Amino acid sequence: MMPLLTPPPTAHKPTVLVIDDEAGPRDALKVILRPFFNIQSAESARAAIDVLNNQQIDLITLDQKLPDRQGLDLLQEIKHSHADIEVIIITGYGSLKSAMEGIRHGAAGYLLKPFNVTELITLVNQTLEKKQRLDYLRHFIHSSTELWGTEAECARAWDAMRAGYGAIGTTGGEPSTDPMDLLPMLSDLLEAKDRQLLNHCSRVSFYATLLANRISLTVNEQKSLALGAFLHDIGKIGKEPYEFADDEIIGAGGACEQRHHPEAGARLVAPLGLPAEVGQIIAYHHERWDGSGYPHGLKGEGIPLLARIVCLAQTFDHLTAERPDRTPLPVDEAVTLMAAHAGSYFDPTLTTLFTQVVQECKASLPAMALATSPSGRTDA
Ligand SMILES: [Fe+2]
Repeated sequence: MMPLLTPPPTAHKPTVLVIDDEAGPRDALKVILRPFFNIQSAESARAAIDVLNNQQIDLITLDQKLPDRQGLDLLQEIKHSHADIEVIIITGYGSLKSAMEGIRHGAAGYLLKPFNVTELITLVNQTLEKKQRLDYLRHFIHSSTELWGTEAECARAWDAMRAGYGAIGTTGGEPSTDPMDLLPMLSDLLEAKDRQLLNHCSRVSFYATLLANRISLTVNEQKSLALGAFLHDIGKIGKEPYEFADDEIIGAGGACEQRHHPEAGARLVAPLGLPAEVGQIIAYHHERWDGSGYPHGLKGEGIPLLARIVCLAQTFDHLTAERPDRTPLPVDEAVTLMAAHAGSYFDPTLTTLFTQVVQECKASLPAMALATSPSGRTDA
């Protein structure tokens, strides 16, 4: 029996594109989804691209294995050219590894064939609600000038953003006074800007937390570290396209247009009532031990401890994360390179501890990093 599940309210009936080369599953998906959504379908990657070029699509169900292309490859192209279309991978060849790959490349969720109808409809509805939230935030950060204005204007912009965001679907409820309750929205904000930005921030928070377990931080300092690391690049949600940029890599100087993001980010979160250490991490994560960093050229222990930790964590991620323009370094090489800069770029004592801890758990680093986000929200 068809479950009594209704799609989230939107201004229009959402359109779902079903991409599957096998008639059976394709027709099943169409039959299940048709009562709730406009349906388009495609039997191949080429046919899917044709539909995308000619129709407004909200959500895609994507078969992992297509006759003319791998589903993951098509997923990457779709997320590159239509970042606002959400994709659910449906596959008979699934494994945890390919699920993680799909999520890492921006899929909102994953279902194995033969799928459970209730799970399918629930996932589609959750994903469409997430799309509403991301669309709202994308529009907000593109159109708001107050967000980057004076502190009073910025505070007004956050209030407006929270009200609009809270009115969407099930995210609502009374506005909370606990700043930690902002995490789901802040996580969505990073994703609305760019999925790669959210991935980077999640991993950096994870790496920073690894180090936190080796030094004596209070519980509050540990929380601030996890949150500050997660938000360290929030200054990049402005109008310029997000770049997983070379300015962050050892040996590169730092493009001028990127250099304002620590201060911009710290100003941006100032009205949110987050712990002071969070603002410091955002403001100072590009300072270097020898004073050659930016924006202030702070030196040694003049750089707040938690910012020194995040400096290590974000550099490690820039060296080891997969990126389109170059091959990532294996953990051992990244660690060797970072150790060579202990005492110049990095706090020497923290560098020793950091290189130890990432080497100890390097076997599980990629999967653990992907699965971790301080917001506690998994993908829809
Ligand atoms: Fe940064």
